[in-house]
Amino acid sequence: MCGIVAYVGPREATEVLLEGLRRLEYRGYDSAGVAVMNGSGISVRKAVGRLSALEHELAGNALHGGLGIGHTRWATHGAPSVANSHPHISYDGKVGVIHNGIVENYRELKNELLAQGVTFKSDTDTEVVAHLVAREFRGDLKAALAGVLKRLRGAYALALCHVDQPDRVVATRMGSPLVVGLGDGENFIASDVPALLKYTRRVIFLDEGQIAEITRDGVHLYDRELREVKGKEVRTSLTLEAAEKEGYEHFMLKEIHEQPHAIAETIRGRVTDERVDLSELGLDPAVLKGVRRIAVVACGTSLYSGMVGKYLIEHFTKLPTETWSASEFRYADPVIDPSLLVIAVSQSGETADTLEALRICKQRGARTLAVCNVMGSSIPRTVDATLYTRAGPEIGVASTKAYTTQLAAFALLAVGLGRMLGTADAADEARIVRGLEALPAQVKALLTDDIVAVKRCAKRYKDVFNFMYIGRHYNYPTAMEGALKLKEISYIHAEGYAGGEMKHGPLALVEDTFPTIAIAPRGRTREKMVSNVQEVKARKGVVVIVSTHGDEEARELADYLIEIPDCEEELSPILAIVPLQLLAYYTATQLGRDVDKPRNLAKSVTVE
Ligand code: AGP
Repeated sequence: MCGIVAYVGPREATEVLLEGLRRLEYRGYDSAGVAVMNGSGISVRKAVGRLSALEHELAGNALHGGLGIGHTRWATHGAPSVANSHPHISYDGKVGVIHNGIVENYRELKNELLAQGVTFKSDTDTEVVAHLVAREFRGDLKAALAGVLKRLRGAYALALCHVDQPDRVVATRMGSPLVVGLGDGENFIASDVPALLKYTRRVIFLDEGQIAEITRDGVHLYDRELREVKGKEVRTSLTLEAAEKEGYEHFMLKEIHEQPHAIAETIRGRVTDERVDLSELGLDPAVLKGVRRIAVVACGTSLYSGMVGKYLIEHFTKLPTETWSASEFRYADPVIDPSLLVIAVSQSGETADTLEALRICKQRGARTLAVCNVMGSSIPRTVDATLYTRAGPEIGVASTKAYTTQLAAFALLAVGLGRMLGTADAADEARIVRGLEALPAQVKALLTDDIVAVKRCAKRYKDVFNFMYIGRHYNYPTAMEGALKLKEISYIHAEGYAGGEMKHGPLALVEDTFPTIAIAPRGRTREKMVSNVQEVKARKGVVVIVSTHGDEEARELADYLIEIPDCEEELSPILAIVPLQLLAYYTATQLGRDVDKPRNLAKSVTVE
């Protein structure tokens, strides 16, 4: 949901900004723009569409200067257009601003400014900030910003420059991420660490409401009252290589192939001698014993991993567990009290709905945990403890390795909590640990062996308009996630359904051109899934079956068979989703879709 980057230093700011925006393009790609201070004022270049359009614009019309701000946009207020692209400049031409988030009360502020005779050039909520800061400026940009912040409602990460203080950038955040990069004689601001990696690995994650003022020589942090505060410098473990495609055609394909390593990393040090060790979470067994219910809150793919998590947690802890779409949870008036443990699941750690659900839970005294991939992001900073998924940076908008590592994390968490509560059986624990340890090699084998079958299947069905994915129990969420993958990158309509529900309506859709993907690995519901497949076949439907190696009945029934290695039933969603990720990928590439940046979407959804 928009990426922002700012630079002050001896280099050409434009180059640093473009490099940063390249790394942040996953956050939005409706338009991009940069503003550079050049001694006589602020010069701006903008272009609609991908960053390459801005690069093209700059190639013919370069900007020079050592201070600049840059933005890549995911449109919220106002269509993608040059006028609505950031940076926005104030009516007096002196303030430049870039913004990630939404100013909720912008209408009221805009009407006020219009009444004062200010003319607006865009339809965005952001432009009010530029004008308000210009009005408030009395020689100190951070003071002007602090004054304006008192009037803003909503979520924002903002970075600003002012012609009368040409040596500094001032930035702040509330509900949207922002990180300061510390250099030698140069400093940086960005929405996310990869934007900085080419220049520095020393970073400070800004706290909510903090204001940062950066010049070439220093970084100063302030609270809302402009009292100077100290930030905590950390050295990021992310590397530039991890943020590159490394020869793969798309980030998504690279990330699919990284899954064996990502899963191994996620379980590393957390399983030993057939036991799960979650001591890193520092959970107090006495507090845990007071927990009566668990709620998992998340969005999209993370929600589907949470659905598998619910089954695992209920099995191992015997505690009633609900899953909630975070956007629903916030408005549903759920019962929240100190006996509730809330688990927020998020790759980015910045999803606005998940974060807000979490805040509501905290306010009402619930205990909070997170399963998250991005260190230092807002969700881990809000909760009592975080189980990190260690998948490495996920750049492709379609989530893949974040999902399978979330599933592995949930297996660890369920067993770990069960042990602390005394509800998990030791033999069961050992069985899951062995299963988890086998997974990296199994996923690797799957990625080598089955790609041909999946490619054939993608080629055969790429032109159909609708797909049905069905699964039961642990693999019901696999059906939802498989369908989500297909629709978000190929734009083919796909639905994920519980296998047993087909006869209650969707069976009416089945005809000889309608493919159903049935996820039916070995396990408690396999037989029932086979019956569901028979029902589809009896109506002349086409069936692709994902089954365990050696399932002869599945082979006979399937129009296309995709086999996965045998594994513990509880872990089968981790293996079953891999061919479905590939199916979506190869379908989308054959249709010529922009796999890493599907239309209308962004990686990190920091608006409601
Ligand atoms: C999945 O492929 C998505 N692009 C999307 O559903 C994503 O999982 C969702 O927006 C949640 O994001 P998070 O995990 O970063 O919170």
